[in-house]
Amino acid sequence: MQVKIQLANQLKSLKNSVARLTHVNKFYGEGSVKVKALDDLNLEVFQGDYLAVMGASGSGKSTAMNILGCLDRPTNGKYELNGTAVEKLDDDSLADIRNKELGFVFQQFHLLQEISALENVMLPMIYACIPSIERKKRAEEALTRVGLKNRMTNLPNQLSGGQQQRVAIARAIINQPSLLLADEPTGALDSKTTEDVLNLFDQLHNQGITIVLVTHEDTVAQRAKKIARFKDGKVIEISQN
Ligand SMILES: Nc1ncnc2c1ncn2[C@@H]1O[C@H](COP(=O)(O)OP(=O)(O)O)[C@@H](O)[C@H]1O
Ligand SMILES: [Mg+2]
Repeated sequence: MQVKIQLANQLKSLKNSVARLTHVNKFYGEGSVKVKALDDLNLEVFQGDYLAVMGASGSGKSTAMNILGCLDRPTNGKYELNGTAVEKLDDDSLADIRNKELGFVFQQFHLLQEISALENVMLPMIYACIPSIERKKRAEEALTRVGLKNRMTNLPNQLSGGQQQRVAIARAIINQPSLLLADEPTGALDSKTTEDVLNLFDQLHNQGITIVLVTHEDTVAQRAKKIARFKDGKVIEISQN
């Protein structure tokens, strides 16, 4: 009995929970236009996971990602990020946790157009109060890591879509987030560039980064280790790849 309990505890500690959504509901609007975007959603992400989120348009994927990313709060229910009860935090603490714990990659890259690739990647470190010499060094390393050593001084519009997405990925990982969230990161890319970006995600996953990626493409989802299928604001199935 004792041994069994010890073993169970050991197994538990091997699978550290990074993000846990418990009985989460999210409503938009009021009265006759009220929409239930998440319906008693339960979802747990463990350290080192590479999880693809799939589901029809309107099934709540982006809403769940926004909550996981602390861009929005549940209407009710619990969200624990590395053991912190996020739903209880004020806006300042939420912004702080976003900067320290989370990295974001979006379909449309969301780079600032008037500054270089290097400066885009340095930005999150400004908010994290990292000295400028260190910022530059780390941004150069991150851009080298994503294969853009020779494109650092280019403006975003001087880069291809795939290169811009790699800058966005470098920016997303620069503060060593405990969770990397990507909402349709290959949605605006051709198949060759998609492959490059997915290879980069594989590499990050192998380096231990925890990734949650939304996609509607099977070929993209197959590259993840697990797939969570959403329907009507809840997870209806989790499968292993
Ligand atoms: N800001 C919003 N205001 C009102 N309704 C919204 C808003 N965002 C999403 N919704 C609604 O919530 C539901 C879930 O949307 P969403 O999370 O964007 O789904 P998905 O990303 O799976 O397409 C949809 O019915 C959508 O219309
Ligand atoms: Mg969406």
